[in-house]
Amino acid sequence: MDSVRSKDIQKDRSMDRSTSSGEDKLFVEHCKGVNGLERVILREVRGSSVEVYLYGGQVTSWKNEYGEELLFVSSKATFKLPKAIRGGIPICFPQFGSHGSLEQHGFARNRMWSIDHDPPPFPTNTSNRAFIDLILKHSEEDAKIWPHRYEFRLRITLGPGGDLMLTSRIRNTNTDGKSFAFTFAYHTYFAVSDISEVRVEGLETLDYLDNLKGKERFTEQGDAITFESEVSVDKIYLSTPTKIAILDHERKRTFVLRKDGLPDAVVWNPWDKKAKAMTDFGDDEYKHMLCVEAACVEKPIVLKPGEEWRGRQEISTVPSSYCSGQLDPKKVFQSD
Ligand code: BG6
Repeated sequence: MDSVRSKDIQKDRSMDRSTSSGEDKLFVEHCKGVNGLERVILREVRGSSVEVYLYGGQVTSWKNEYGEELLFVSSKATFKLPKAIRGGIPICFPQFGSHGSLEQHGFARNRMWSIDHDPPPFPTNTSNRAFIDLILKHSEEDAKIWPHRYEFRLRITLGPGGDLMLTSRIRNTNTDGKSFAFTFAYHTYFAVSDISEVRVEGLETLDYLDNLKGKERFTEQGDAITFESEVSVDKIYLSTPTKIAILDHERKRTFVLRKDGLPDAVVWNPWDKKAKAMTDFGDDEYKHMLCVEAACVEKPIVLKPGEEWRGRQEISTVPSSYCSGQLDPKKVFQSD
C-alpha cells in the first residue's frame, strides 16, 4: 500500500470538499488507490494520517505521527469488487456476521459509498479539520435483499492528537410506514506485534456469545483476555463498558477503544487453521492482528420511519501499559 508522507501534501491532486479553502486541502486529499479505487487521505499537522476507501466506506490505514501503521491489512487483501477489503475497519451493516438472513456482515462493506458534500448539521469539535463525510443509500438492487430505504452517513475524523473517530448516523427513510431492524459493527483490525503478547482489558467476567459454539452464552472467567491457547477466538461480549483497552506488551503500546451506542464488543482472531482457509489472508498473519469490534448484535436496533440512530467508535493509543483494571487514561503509568 502507498505510504502516506507529509511531503505528499504538496502534491495535492484533490478535488477537495467543495466549500473548503486551499488550506483544508492539507488535511483532506482525494486521490486514487489500489486498482484505481477512489480514496481519501486525512492528515494532521503532527504527521498522523488515515486512509479511507470509498469502496466499503472503509478505513484501510491509520498511522501515528511517526508513520507507524496501527491497523492491520492483509498482504493478500484484494481491493476488488465484490470482495470486502481484508483489514482496516470494514463496516458491518445491516447485519453483523451470520445473525440474520443476509450475506455475512451485510452488504455495506462491499458497496461503493459516495462523498456526502452537504451532511446535516453535526455537533462537532471545531478544531478537527481532517475529516470526511461519506454516505450510502438504498438502491433498487439492494432492496431485493433488504426491502428498506435508508441513509447511512459516516463521518471519519482524524483528531489533532492522532485519534481516529468514526460516527455513523443511520436514518430510516421508508415511505411505506415500515420500521426496520439491523445489527452493526465497526470491524476493527488492530495491528499487534505478536498475538501471544496481547491482553484485552474491560471484558473480563462479562457474558458472551461464542460464535464457535453455536452462539451459546457463556460467562468469561479470569483476569483479562489473553491469546495463548492456540485456538481461534470468536466471541461477542454483551453489555460491555464504553472503554476497552488492548495492550501490546512487546510494542509497549495500548489501544484505547471508546464507544457510544454500541453495547457489544466482538473479539476475533482466526488462528492458524481458519487463516489457512481464507484466500485473502496470509497463513501466519493471525499473529499480527486482533479484531476488537464495537458492535450492536444481541439486541438489534429498530428504527421507525424518520428515526435516526447514532453509533460512535473512537480509537487512540497510549505508549504504555495500563494498571490492570484501570481503564482511565489519566491513570496510565509508564511501563519503563
Ligand atoms: C468476525 C466474526 O467479526 O469476522 C467471525 O465474529 C468472522 O465469525 C470474522 O469469521 C471474519 O468475517 P469475514 O466475513 O470478513 O471473513
